[in-house]
Amino acid sequence: MGHIIALAGKGGTGKTTTAALLVRLIKEKKLGSCLAVDADPNSNLGESLGLPAQESIGIILDQISAHPDKIPAGMPKDRFLEYRVGTAILEGNGFDLLTMGKPEGPGCYCYINNVLRNIVDKLIKDYDYVVIDNEAGLEHLSRRTTRQADVLLVIADATKVGLRAAKRVNDLSEELDIRIGKRLLIINKDSGEADSALIKGTGLEHIGSIGVDQALARISSNGSSVMDLPPDALSLNSLANIGESIWQRN
Ligand SMILES: Nc1ncnc2c1ncn2[C@@H]1O[C@H](COP(=O)(O)OP(=O)(O)O)[C@@H](O)[C@H]1O
Ligand SMILES: [Mg+2]
Repeated sequence: MGHIIALAGKGGTGKTTTAALLVRLIKEKKLGSCLAVDADPNSNLGESLGLPAQESIGIILDQISAHPDKIPAGMPKDRFLEYRVGTAILEGNGFDLLTMGKPEGPGCYCYINNVLRNIVDKLIKDYDYVVIDNEAGLEHLSRRTTRQADVLLVIADATKVGLRAAKRVNDLSEELDIRIGKRLLIINKDSGEADSALIKGTGLEHIGSIGVDQALARISSNGSSVMDLPPDALSLNSLANIGESIWQRN
């Protein structure tokens, strides 16, 4: 059964970067097979992992609804969707990637969301590790991907505003119908000034911090991926040091 690590936090805090770094570490430490799930339509986990443009589940759903005639005769729609989800999984070097893409338009897609969630739940079982890069509102976790996570990993900056946002994400995850094992906090772009009372107030276990890493700024400006970061990069090493509490199963 996949060890599911779901990242959450306000936009710009470093979720996608941290998710990509985790995938790299899981691969380099040979912890097992890994599926990266991009569940934030506003970011691009694939790009951060150095993969080319991907076919997304959103696009596939649009295609199926626009051309229902393309479903092979006699094949139930949910079986066809399962097959298409399978074809959308991109094989990277040492990990796979599933891109969820944009959410559905207005109207009730409850049926399709349920089908999709069952497909993703089944898929997750094939991997040792699943790293899900979520959007701030945790929409996918509650509706489309899976309703369980072994680890909710909230990324926040060290400011008062940042830590209050982390608390809101944690509160939201408790209101939603999601089963969560550990609730962890990483302070990113940390300059050491985080208030311990505010950290405690998030309700999350603060497992460590990642400082400002100039090497990350360099790779994002020249369009390369976290796979190109030098092995001595600060962010990679900080995360490697606190990683044990993230990928350990209990
Ligand atoms: N520790 C860090 N040091 C320096 N820059 C960082 C760090 N973490 C993230 N960044 C940069 O911050 C920006 C936002 O990060 P990103 O991972 O896209 O955030 P999110 O997915 O939460 O919106 C990116 O340009 C990224 O390179
Ligand atoms: Mg992102």
